[in-house]
Amino acid sequence: MLNNLKPQPADKILMLSSLFRADNRDTKIDLGVGVYKNAEGHTPIMRAVKKAEKQLWETEDTKTYTSLPGDAGFHKVMADMVLGDSVDRARLSACATPGGTGAIHNVCETILMANPDTTIWVSNPTWGNHLSIFKHLGLKFKTYNYFDAQTCAIDFNGMIASLQDVQPGDVVLLHGCCHNPTGANLNQTQWNEVADLIAAKAAIPFIDIAYQGFGDGLDDDAYGVRLLASKFPEMMIAASCSKNFGIYRERTGIVLAISADADAAKITQGTLAHLNRQNFSFPPDHGARLVTMVLSDPELRADWQAELEEVRTGMLVLRRKLADALRAETGSDRFGFIAEHRGMFSRLGLTEEQVMELRDTHAIYMVGDSRINIAGLNDANVTIIAKAVASVIA
Ligand code: LMR
Repeated sequence: MLNNLKPQPADKILMLSSLFRADNRDTKIDLGVGVYKNAEGHTPIMRAVKKAEKQLWETEDTKTYTSLPGDAGFHKVMADMVLGDSVDRARLSACATPGGTGAIHNVCETILMANPDTTIWVSNPTWGNHLSIFKHLGLKFKTYNYFDAQTCAIDFNGMIASLQDVQPGDVVLLHGCCHNPTGANLNQTQWNEVADLIAAKAAIPFIDIAYQGFGDGLDDDAYGVRLLASKFPEMMIAASCSKNFGIYRERTGIVLAISADADAAKITQGTLAHLNRQNFSFPPDHGARLVTMVLSDPELRADWQAELEEVRTGMLVLRRKLADALRAETGSDRFGFIAEHRGMFSRLGLTEEQVMELRDTHAIYMVGDSRINIAGLNDANVTIIAKAVASVIA
């Protein structure tokens, strides 16, 4: 039986991490996978998370199962953080999942259970795993224009033009903030226009929000998701705690689903719990519990928010430094967009050949579409990277 299996395509982002580890050059620079790193290249455990973990170790007295959708306390703090007061909680269903990826997977399965013929619209480009999950589950998808490869900014007119073809009942997937892989984000006026258009098309929004707090701040980053939640009768959200709580390996995420009314929400809730049971039974609890503790304790929460803000503003400084260094090395403003983008990524607009040359000749690793992880920059490597980029585009 197993010899019938076909080789699967390697995930481009995760494969890059293995290639980086195998590279023996001590000058190598990792701008690949989206994991936060401090100036020393370390991914620290956030202060408040570490304190919560200590408290949990001292007070937790059982490891028995939680409930299928996970802990209600986690649902509450996450709904508050993501949605604020934009939607009546009676219409909300929530279900903890293994990371944001688990949430995306379960949302896609929910869509298929509701209507296996659904088409989901996704930005071109998007996080590679979105497409991979759609294909794996047999969910039909179409792409909408999003990014102008010349200016490395949003192609907003193109986006609106392609969304004209959305049909009633289609699902439109939007990145809540910090678009992955481009770093180019909708402003508030654009969010309003997109919301009106999707509403006019009678489509259902699905928001993937994996970097809340990394762009313009916790509340500003939730502008789009809250706007849509206040307008639409139905909507789905996949939220991740991997990045903003720095708990990547704990696999902590959540599905938040908004139904038309409280009765429909009960059925949605049951469906989400059912999907957890079919896929993995109970969701991981440790990370969810830490998030609940941090968000519920004013002192821990203040410390977490302060550290998240340090991370966010630190990345803005690094963006500015790289943009300045590239201006100095190339004598042009071609890369000025890096300072304007937000979140963990920017797409530099290099060719695959140039990306390969950066890897082979300069030991600089970025995803093949020239996406860089801003947190991989530091004072010591910014000029090196700028010189290398200038040399490959010369
Ligand atoms: C990324 O895009 O690098 C992150 O979301 C990590 C991943 O799982 O791909």
